[in-house]
Amino acid sequence: MPETLRWGIIGTGMIAGVFAKDLAQARFGVLGAVASRRGEKGQEFAGKHGVPTAYGSYDDLLADGDIDAIYVATPHPCHRDVVLAAAKAGKHILCEKPMGVTPEECEEMIAAAAAAGVTLLEAFMYRVHPATRLIQSTVAEGRIGQVKLIRSSFCYGLGNAYNVRLDPTLRGGGLYDVGCYCINFSRMIAGEEPDDISAVWTLGEETGVDESLAVGLHFPSGPVAQFDVSIRSMGDVFAEVVGTDGALLTTSPWKPHPEKAEVELRCKGKPTETLRVNDGGHVFALEADHLAQVVAGEADPIIPAENAVGNAAVLDTIWRRMHP
Ligand SMILES: NC(=O)c1ccc[n+]([C@@H]2O[C@H](COP(=O)([O-])OP(=O)(O)OC[C@H]3O[C@@H](n4cnc5c(N)ncnc54)[C@H](OP(=O)(O)O)[C@@H]3O)[C@@H](O)[C@H]2O)c1
Repeated sequence: MPETLRWGIIGTGMIAGVFAKDLAQARFGVLGAVASRRGEKGQEFAGKHGVPTAYGSYDDLLADGDIDAIYVATPHPCHRDVVLAAAKAGKHILCEKPMGVTPEECEEMIAAAAAAGVTLLEAFMYRVHPATRLIQSTVAEGRIGQVKLIRSSFCYGLGNAYNVRLDPTLRGGGLYDVGCYCINFSRMIAGEEPDDISAVWTLGEETGVDESLAVGLHFPSGPVAQFDVSIRSMGDVFAEVVGTDGALLTTSPWKPHPEKAEVELRCKGKPTETLRVNDGGHVFALEADHLAQVVAGEADPIIPAENAVGNAAVLDTIWRRMHP
């Protein structure tokens, strides 16, 4: 049984609050401290979420010897500095997606964690849910035959108030925010890195970030993936894998239901089957527990940190085309 980890949360934004709330469902993790760049924000967050200690600087939290693991919940380009500092401080790290904005950044973070002997994981929380593993195993068992197409989408609607997702200096836009999931899913199913990438997009006139984007990926062994994202649309999500003999479809791929997750399996000449995962768990609690198990040597990482390098390579390639 892994030891219970005391978590320190860095950043007090939207996802930090979700993580703090869901950690109550974790078996091997408790809230220890939160850090904000501004003292009063940290105090407010701590009061709201029942966090025992609040710090007014990230460094002060990292210097707290009672904290075992850090959850990095800052905007994408700010992950690198926090991860490097956390590794140096000897903390295990769960870093929000995308771990780094370039493959080089990811490599630097992985090297720092290895040098410090700490565990570093990228927080693609959907990957630790059993429904995602069911999709993987169903494909691996050959139930849909040879994979030909991987389709996915992640759309939602943002308002006009300031949001880090609308800020081009923070790699805002749909690509880094949610396209990273579709890239991760496509690479997971293909089991290899794409050798060709095509993309079309619309940058917001006022924001300058990709507000709608469609991407095609070709994989060396044959499968083709396509995905689209929009941050200016109604919420719409799905992921589908189409093979020679059948297809798998999920309409909640990125946050499978904690109690009742479902995946639809259609095979040639057979009635549609619904594959069910009951009580799969809350994704943020699952990933905190997964990190504790990896730290204790009781599990191999479901996605090793090295996987972030390939994801960031696709992200950065498309970003550089959008912002030459
Ligand atoms: N896994 C998921 O489901 C999921 C969902 C949403 C977001 N995310 C990821 O989590 C990260 C944070 O997203 P979020 O939605 O929580 O963002 P957010 O609400 O804007 O919060 C980001 C926090 O980071 C801190 N920060 C540090 N440097 C900053 C800067 N230069 N500008 C703005 N804030 C800064 C701020 O906290 P202090 O001021 O207190 O220091 C801020 O509250 C992103 O990488 C995103 O991709 C993951």
